Order: sequence, then C-alpha cells, then structure tokens
Amino acid sequence: MTRKLACALAAAAIAVALTSGAGAQEKTPTAQPLRGPVSIPETNNSGIYKMERHDRVIPRNHAWQPPVIPHNVKGYQITKDVNMCMVCHSSKAAPRTGATPVAKSHYLDRDGKELPNISTRRYFCLQCHVPQFDAEPLVENTFGKAK
Ligand code: HEC
Ligand code: HEC
Repeated sequence: MTRKLACALAAAAIAVALTSGAGAQEKTPTAQPLRGPVSIPETNNSGIYKMERHDRVIPRNHAWQPPVIPHNVKGYQITKDVNMCMVCHSSKAAPRTGATPVAKSHYLDRDGKELPNISTRRYFCLQCHVPQFDAEPLVENTFGKAK
C-alpha cells in the first residue's frame, strides 16, 4: 500500500466515524413510564402515606423472601457507628425485645465464616427489608403467594 493511499483510507475512516457519531445527537426515544405522560414532581405522593403497624409478623410469600417489616421504622438510624435495628433484632437482644432475631445468615461473611457481630453484607437492613405503607398498588396486578 502506498503512503498516499493509506492516508486517504485513514481520512475516509475518520469521516465515517464522524458522520455516524453525529447520529448520536439525534433525539433518543424515551420509554413511556407507567405513570403516564406526567412529570415525577406532579405525581410525588411521598409523605401522604402512613407506615403500617401490624404488631405481628406478616406471612412470607415464598421461601427465602426477606420478611417485610411489620412496624414503623421512622427514626431508626443506620450509621457507621450505630444500627438501631440491631438494638432489638440482634440474637442477644431479641429474647428481651420480642423481635425476631436476625437470621443466622446475617452473621456470616462471604466465606461462610461466623462473625460475632452482624455481617457488613447484612448491615443495611432496608436494602432487603421494607416497611409497608397504606398505599394502593400503582398498577393493578394479580400477585399471589407462591404455593
Ligand atoms: C424497638 C425494637 C425494634 C427495633 C428498633 C426494630 N424492630 Fe423490627 N421488630 C420488632 C418486633 C418486636 C418485631 C415483631 C413484630 C412486631 O411486634 O411488630 C419486629 C419485626 C421485624 C421484622 C419481621 C420479622 C419476621 O419474622 O417476619 C423485620 C423484617 C424487622 N422487624 C426489621 C427491622 C428493621 C430493618 C429495623 C430497623 C430499620 C427494625 N426492625 C427495628 C422490634 C424492633
Ligand atoms: C442482602 C439482603 C439482606 C439484608 C441487608 C438484611 N437481610 Fe434480613 N433477611 C434477608 C433474607 C433473604 C432473609 C430470609 C432468609 C434467611 O433467613 O436468611 C432474612 C431474614 C431476616 C429475619 C427473619 C429471621 C428468621 O429467623 O425468620 C429478620 C428478623 C431479619 N432478616 C432482620 C434483618 C435486619 C435487622 C437487618 C439489618 C441489620 C437485615 N435483616 C439485613 C435478607 C437481608
């Protein structure tokens, strides 16, 4: 290949790259949200629902489900120094507080080694366990318990 030809080919390649790049500036199609064509601030209802209080555990829907939280969790802080949930839910405190002790899995590190305290993998409880609100489902559905 001559030097001139190589230069011409390189220039052509750059030109192609530039034109296809220009395509990316076109308006990308957006997905239609379930709430319809209204903006989030218009539909933001946070704060109007109340956290439910059951005073007893809520039956699970399938094996290995993280049980949902049957009580209010307002003000229960989880910071690097304190985990309010563990004040009641640690296996030591549970007999006194009446809370279900956290599962054994919550004291294991990733190698399956038992730890004296809650594992960092289970530290942020609300990652998996959620309180319940008196809100209607956003979309009607036929969700049922696994048999
Ligand atoms: C003041 C004590 C207390 C604190 C703090 C507390 N809980 Fe509880 N929790 C309970 C008790 C007692 C129950 C048993 C049901 C009931 O009486 O509401 C319970 C039940 C639960 C259950 C249901 C367990 C099951 O077997 O179904 C979950 C999940 C749970 N709590 C998670 C949490 C999380 C997450 C936090 C922190 C954000 C927390 N709890 C903070 C006392 C507490
Ligand atoms: C990564 C997800 C995850 C995190 C984080 C987590 N859990 Fe769980 N939790 C589960 C799952 C899944 C189960 C049910 C299966 C099991 O027993 O391991 C469970 C079970 C439980 C139970 C019921 C135990 C029983 O014997 O029935 C309680 C109570 C509980 N968790 C409390 C907590 C608290 C309090 C925290 C925070 C300190 C926490 N969990 C963090 C996933 C999680």
